[in-house]
Amino acid sequence: MKRIFEVQPWDVVTHKFNPEDKRLQESMTSLGNGYMGMRGFFEEDYSADTLQGLYLGGVWFPDKTRVGWWKNGYPKYFGKVINAVNFIKMNFLIDGEKLDLAKDKFSDFEMDLNMKDSVLTRSFIADKSGKKVKFVFERFLSVDQKELSVQKVSFENLSDSKVDIKVISSIDADVKNEDANYDERFWDVLDVTDDSLVAKTKPNNYGTPQFTSAMQMSHVTGLKEVDQSKTDTQTSKTFEIELSQNEQASIEKRVIVTTSRDYDTVQELTDAMNKLTKKVSSKTFDELFTAHRDIWAERWNKSDVQIKGDVEAQQGMRFNLFGLFSTYYGDDARLNFGPKGFTGEKYGGATYWDTEAFCIPVYLGITDPKVTRNLLMYRYKQLDGAYVNAKEQGLKGALFPMVTFNGIECHNEWEITFEEIHRNGDIAFAIYNYTRYTGDKSYVLNEGSKVLTEISRFWADRVHFSQRNNQYMIHGVTGPDEYENNVDNNWYTNYLARWTLEYTLKVLSEVSPEQAAKLNVSDEEKKQWQDIVDRMYLPYDKKLGIFVQHDGFLDKDIKPVSELPSDQLPLNQNWSWDKILRSPYIKQGDVIQGIWDFMDDFTEEEKKRNFDFYEPLTVHESSLSASIYSVLAADLHYEDKAVALYERTARLDLDNYNNDTDDGLHITSMTGGWISIVHGFAGMRVHDDGTLSYKPFLPKKWDSYSFRQVFRGRVIEITVDGSGSHFKLISGDPVSIKVDDKLVELN
Ligand code: BGC
Repeated sequence: MKRIFEVQPWDVVTHKFNPEDKRLQESMTSLGNGYMGMRGFFEEDYSADTLQGLYLGGVWFPDKTRVGWWKNGYPKYFGKVINAVNFIKMNFLIDGEKLDLAKDKFSDFEMDLNMKDSVLTRSFIADKSGKKVKFVFERFLSVDQKELSVQKVSFENLSDSKVDIKVISSIDADVKNEDANYDERFWDVLDVTDDSLVAKTKPNNYGTPQFTSAMQMSHVTGLKEVDQSKTDTQTSKTFEIELSQNEQASIEKRVIVTTSRDYDTVQELTDAMNKLTKKVSSKTFDELFTAHRDIWAERWNKSDVQIKGDVEAQQGMRFNLFGLFSTYYGDDARLNFGPKGFTGEKYGGATYWDTEAFCIPVYLGITDPKVTRNLLMYRYKQLDGAYVNAKEQGLKGALFPMVTFNGIECHNEWEITFEEIHRNGDIAFAIYNYTRYTGDKSYVLNEGSKVLTEISRFWADRVHFSQRNNQYMIHGVTGPDEYENNVDNNWYTNYLARWTLEYTLKVLSEVSPEQAAKLNVSDEEKKQWQDIVDRMYLPYDKKLGIFVQHDGFLDKDIKPVSELPSDQLPLNQNWSWDKILRSPYIKQGDVIQGIWDFMDDFTEEEKKRNFDFYEPLTVHESSLSASIYSVLAADLHYEDKAVALYERTARLDLDNYNNDTDDGLHITSMTGGWISIVHGFAGMRVHDDGTLSYKPFLPKKWDSYSFRQVFRGRVIEITVDGSGSHFKLISGDPVSIKVDDKLVELN
């Protein structure tokens, strides 16, 4: 655990600058508005280690796959959201010498991410050229005008003689991705003008679209423009001012970014850019900021989770929601969640099963149902790609990808992208989850039934029949626990496959005759699916009374994590991959993930036996792990464990639990705070009959917590404090809910 920021309810703030923690600091101070986002890297050049990252949602490149030994079926490229043209760049000369915090002396450093308003500020006093100058930086990515980035830099001369300040403000296309497979640059510059730059992603051989992005900068300042310069990849303007002692000045930089995702031609894209630049030019900084802040205020008002009596827990929770909202608020149905959002290169900004398994359960509770419906439609629209993936494996139906932008699998780790096929079941489960939560059957009976049918066709082909056991089995898979590869009969995968077939048969019995005709599922297929449902093998150990993670798991040398010397953790940074695979240690919920999905299907004893067996073996080295265990712990009244796991999930990045936040935040696991509190501490469940129930408890350390939840056209407010739990209907029709098994009417 490493904490470099102070604990405050609404801010992530530090007064220290340690170059060793530069990347960590950048990750933690990332900003995003769903359309674009960036790490908290400095505006000015920094000559020591830094990860400059600025990303435009959905603007990606197919980077040619790199492997040691090619195997048939490998995806040809790894898709990645690429580092965008750096449009926030501003350099500063103090009496002609360039400011560089890697080399210069400075004091009074502060960096503050204000989560309430989504604005990042940084200040320090530079001691350079024998002068002291105070710098204050502010920046935000507008949620009111998604194409707009706003920066303001103020400086004050704290020396007793005059100082000359020059500001060089640029748009710079000389950027690269650290994770580029062949060290290639991904942008070609099409046009550079005095204040704008247009760049297009390089042509590729895979038939995926090229993207164009255009950016235009404008400045509001009392400084004098003294120079303008252009190179093949950069446009810059230089401003100058001489400041007397204690004199202040400032410069504001506004950039409009448009992309070919929204416009067909370069002309349309640059016209739109010019128009938007004009539009924002009539507004003051305060007006632009207020419009942005008001939208954030509305978001917080709808879904803030308030925790009293524990500032660490509160900050963690808000940091989670802040990360999620900065990444995705459902405004653009073509986009999805990248596991690192806009905060780093890892995972390439692509869509993973994280969306269905972790994000959807949260977004159902905090946003309009249309947001989740869009996420489901995203997969429906990618069915063609999913057919290709199944075909590549020689199988029927649709295999949704582990990593993708367009439905085609774009990552080539054999054991993950080829074997971690449980994701197909998770995508099916999300359709059920949406339908159960919202009561809206329009998706499942139309597009959803198609998705379910094609996934079922895949499962029916992927299982094999074991004559010896007279049962269906699934060999050669990786379950959610990626610390086991190529296993046979992963309980979670088999359970989900069986469930999908059963659910699809149920849905098929409800679709309209027209839809049934379109789906064209033969009686023979249905019979086969039913047979698989009836005879699917699910590993179970009678003696222990537990579901076995996969065949052979119990033959391992089973010893709890607590017996490992602490310097061996995290295992993935200390052990060879081979040693990890042979060990009994579990990266993230596997059997426990399945129990969470199907809570109502298992008895108290079953849940307890499985939790007691698997939890001591779990290292939680996936950020997605702790929240699911926290919910189960809460369900079993292991309250201290539930709270400890909440802290781990909610503060995972703030405290750098897994020692890997330097390359970006774990955005999809930021769903963990909400899941732990709402599903865990408040015990919220939605049942098949469309009813809601709660079994709340208050963590000992807390005075109270409260949250608002969207449910079937209503907003319900739940507060849990020392006197019990209190439910209030904020809007919508009256509803009966169950609290601790008793009926409560909300009017
Ligand atoms: C996890 C996967 C997850 C991926 C992206 C991995 O470490 O094991 O379950 O999909 O990260 O978040």
